[in-house]
Amino acid sequence: AVIGSARRVLGWMPDRMLPGGGIPDPLIARQTEVGRPTSRLDGPLKVTGRAPFVTETVLDGQLSAALVHSTITRGRISRLDTRAAEAAPGVVLVLTYRTMPRLRIVPMPGGANLFAPGSSGLPIMQDPEVRYNGQVVAAVLAETQEQADHAASLVEIGYDVRPAATRFEDAKATARTPASILIEKNHVSIGGAERRLSTAAHRVDNVYRTPGHNHNAIELHGVTAAWDGDSLLVHDTTQGVMAEAAALATIFGVKNEQVRVVSPFVGGGFGGKGLWDHQIIAVAAARVAGRPVRLRLSREGVYRIIGGRSPSEQRVAVGADADGRFTAIVHTGYTVMPVYGACPEQFTMGTRTAYRADGFELLHRHLDLDIVPNTFMRTPGETIGTFAVESAIDELAHEMDADPVELRLRNLPDRHPISGAPFSQHALHQAFVDGAARFGWDERTTKPGERRDGEWLVGMGCASGGFPYARMPGAKVRLTLRRDGSVAISCSAQDMGMGTSTVQSQHAADRLGLPLDRITFTLGDSTLAASPMAGGSAQTATIMGAVMSAADRLRDELLKLAGADSPIAGLRPSAVRLVDEGVGADAARHDTYRAILARAGRDEVTVTGTGAPPLEFLKYTMHSSSAIFCEVRVSEVTGEVRVDRLLGSFDCGTVLNPKTAASQLRGGMIMGLGVALTEETLFDERTGRIMNASLADYHIPAHLDVPDIDVIWTGIPDPHSPLGARGLGELGTSGVAAAVANAVFNATGRRVRDLPITLDKLL
Ligand code: MOS
Repeated sequence: AVIGSARRVLGWMPDRMLPGGGIPDPLIARQTEVGRPTSRLDGPLKVTGRAPFVTETVLDGQLSAALVHSTITRGRISRLDTRAAEAAPGVVLVLTYRTMPRLRIVPMPGGANLFAPGSSGLPIMQDPEVRYNGQVVAAVLAETQEQADHAASLVEIGYDVRPAATRFEDAKATARTPASILIEKNHVSIGGAERRLSTAAHRVDNVYRTPGHNHNAIELHGVTAAWDGDSLLVHDTTQGVMAEAAALATIFGVKNEQVRVVSPFVGGGFGGKGLWDHQIIAVAAARVAGRPVRLRLSREGVYRIIGGRSPSEQRVAVGADADGRFTAIVHTGYTVMPVYGACPEQFTMGTRTAYRADGFELLHRHLDLDIVPNTFMRTPGETIGTFAVESAIDELAHEMDADPVELRLRNLPDRHPISGAPFSQHALHQAFVDGAARFGWDERTTKPGERRDGEWLVGMGCASGGFPYARMPGAKVRLTLRRDGSVAISCSAQDMGMGTSTVQSQHAADRLGLPLDRITFTLGDSTLAASPMAGGSAQTATIMGAVMSAADRLRDELLKLAGADSPIAGLRPSAVRLVDEGVGADAARHDTYRAILARAGRDEVTVTGTGAPPLEFLKYTMHSSSAIFCEVRVSEVTGEVRVDRLLGSFDCGTVLNPKTAASQLRGGMIMGLGVALTEETLFDERTGRIMNASLADYHIPAHLDVPDIDVIWTGIPDPHSPLGARGLGELGTSGVAAAVANAVFNATGRRVRDLPITLDKLL
């Protein structure tokens, strides 16, 4: 019945998925909820408008804030006149570097002293320096938003302008070579890749360019901050309440327990909803004004002060022997990462595990420009890295007259190609075979430009993508079993719309032997049990690990509470499971939660679970991967590209909820379509200013740009992750841009190596 209902939702389900989904867990007696395509439990709240989003929160006496952004890129404020703004109706306070409280420095791992522990180490209105175009130079607080907006226009600022570094090409001369990119060593040079390349039977060697991208979550960044003495309450839209609370406590010199950050609903994050200047300005303003403050960024404001994805220039060279076996993979290049930035755009991450080769040469170089530092943006690294590498492999296939799927299959690794560590589970071969069959890859014409439909040239392309599995250490959940047999679980993680609380409730229901409607899962409050932020596709496995531990603690507590009269008296923990709304070894030796608590005279039992350390990383390399297939049409008259069909075939371990998972993967693929065809931050290299800071000028895929998207998966469980599941929040985006570019080549014979593939590049 479960598979049947899933089929109705998705149209298709893989045969290899176990009934109910996933890998059998010896501690789960009956798996009935995991694997079911349950709709998001918070869906009704959202679609009926009853889910309170942060800037809808109105506090008593709340002030509204408006920001003034620098219009120069580099220089110093030489003249500052706030009198007209201060005299404007409703204005209570104008904050500038002169009146802003002094902030404490937050030390960051890696040694940088950061005032803002998001992705920027720059001071926030602490001095008259302007360091990038759009930097906040003043904040106006007024009784209403309209009054604040008007008064902000009255702040007069003059600048001593200084030369700024804004040109990508010029900055190469002073590029830095970091020792590491996130946790990986930066420079990988093994097997003499360049030498092997020069003698390869077949080779391609090209440069690929990707533009910057800006974050465009539907919900704008916004925050409400209120002080009560030295206690701070912040309503924010954020991917990490815990980290934010800790950082704000340090910055404002109060104790951790005096800061509470709540964020029950987040209207999209994608990596952009960390801690940036606006939250700190709002908290500072609330302190100075002695009143609550609401600060909501405009859409333009998000472009000005929230970092996005770095532009890149990447060289990819692939050499192959006569049989098409890769002898060398070279992947080097530049991204922008100012010295005060904290987030390298690690485009070679996916290249390290995607294919085997005899030699590797991998290197990132960082350019120091005067811009707002980039940050994580969905599938950081892999999104642009796979565009370059997967385009290059398509070029190599064409050069050697090989089928692009065949060429990839010939070079799939059976272990980590560089470290030699075994994969925990890896069935990309299967994903390619399944995807190709379902897509009808054998209908592809190998010679470009041969399929035609009127003025349209039609072509097919494929690419591979991937994203690493992560499980964060130390995650905790708090679990309360109540006398009525219901369970409340909570932790400080986030649900940005992915379905976190839904999937975790499904898992908890099966693990505790309860129906789904007996579970509530509460997230998004820094005072709850400490859990990591939502990011890195890591949250699902991370929280599941903590719930597993909490269930064990609960079992132990209940065995102690059950007493001598209980049918489970004297049983050891290893002899029982949580099943049928109670604890038991078999039908005769079973006691219900209600009965145990009633006999013990307890209203509730509360336990805390901590996820086991992620020791799986010591033994295995753990990755999800994908085979993306795409069919496009390109107009010979206008150069317009239309994506007619898109299929993602994924190898991502157990799929816990086919509905939320397919939705995540599909959303990721749509973001990939944007990367391929429409999205581009237009950065004026003369002025250092973003020119298209609006949804009218920065094009994300709209409904008519998005075809039917087919999502399938191998469903093969990972034996080394909780319930066999790896993350998939970012996986969908990886590889899509290359699949589109490769389909465009197949249709037209035109190879576009700089994104996005706009029509002017095809005429
Ligand atoms: Mo993601 S880019 O870790 O929100």
